[in-house]
Amino acid sequence: MNRMNRTDQTVSRSWAFGTASRSPFSHPSGFRGRLAGLVMLLTNDHQGVVDLLAVRPGDQVLEIGHGAGGFLRRLTATPAGMIYGVEPSAVMRDEAARRLRNEIASGRVELRLGTAEDTGLPTTSIDRVVALNNVAIWPDLEAGLREIHRITRPDGLVVIGWHSRTAPSRLTRRLALPEDRLEVLHDTMRRVFGAAERVELRSLTAFTATR
Ligand SMILES: C[S@@+](CC[C@H](N)C(=O)[O-])C[C@H]1O[C@@H](n2cnc3c(N)ncnc32)[C@H](O)[C@@H]1O
Repeated sequence: MNRMNRTDQTVSRSWAFGTASRSPFSHPSGFRGRLAGLVMLLTNDHQGVVDLLAVRPGDQVLEIGHGAGGFLRRLTATPAGMIYGVEPSAVMRDEAARRLRNEIASGRVELRLGTAEDTGLPTTSIDRVVALNNVAIWPDLEAGLREIHRITRPDGLVVIGWHSRTAPSRLTRRLALPEDRLEVLHDTMRRVFGAAERVELRSLTAFTATR
């Protein structure tokens, strides 16, 4: 793996792009990172994901790579019991923490530094796992999916989404992955979980799997 040190995290080569991105959207840090967080809030459209996740009362829910916390806020409107966020960028963790300070104070939301490959959460502890617009940045797809498999409870559901070609925003539409990369993602999910479904949402191509 090609590693370069950054302010608050390590930048690694992405499995999907084959390069180490220094974009503040992939590895937000400093002022540019905070700015990128605002753009994420304005442009990243997560429509349809809440329905797909089908959170049940009391579920333990985890969002990986939550960025500025837009979708975490949506999760607070579901009947989830506890909501966890895992994010490698301290800047994004702090932005999300500011946005969700009341829920954190009440103990319903917990944010921690970590990655898809190393969430730091206990084995079979989570009922619903969601990762939006970050899977293509992960350095090691299989390691990330194996970690998600490890922490998901039997019968738990996983939803992984990335920008699609049908997104209304031109800014995010051009980030859509080529079909061969989507096939690698789908195949790896099938291998790790046994089966995986592809679903086209308004702005995301999503893959779902049950443990
Ligand atoms: C484009 S932002 C998307 C944020 C948010 N999920 C959204 O849809 O608005 C990508 C996020 O992925 C995070 N990230 C980068 N590498 C990661 C990894 N290996 N595991 C989990 N998240 C990662 C970044 O820190 C950043 O906050």
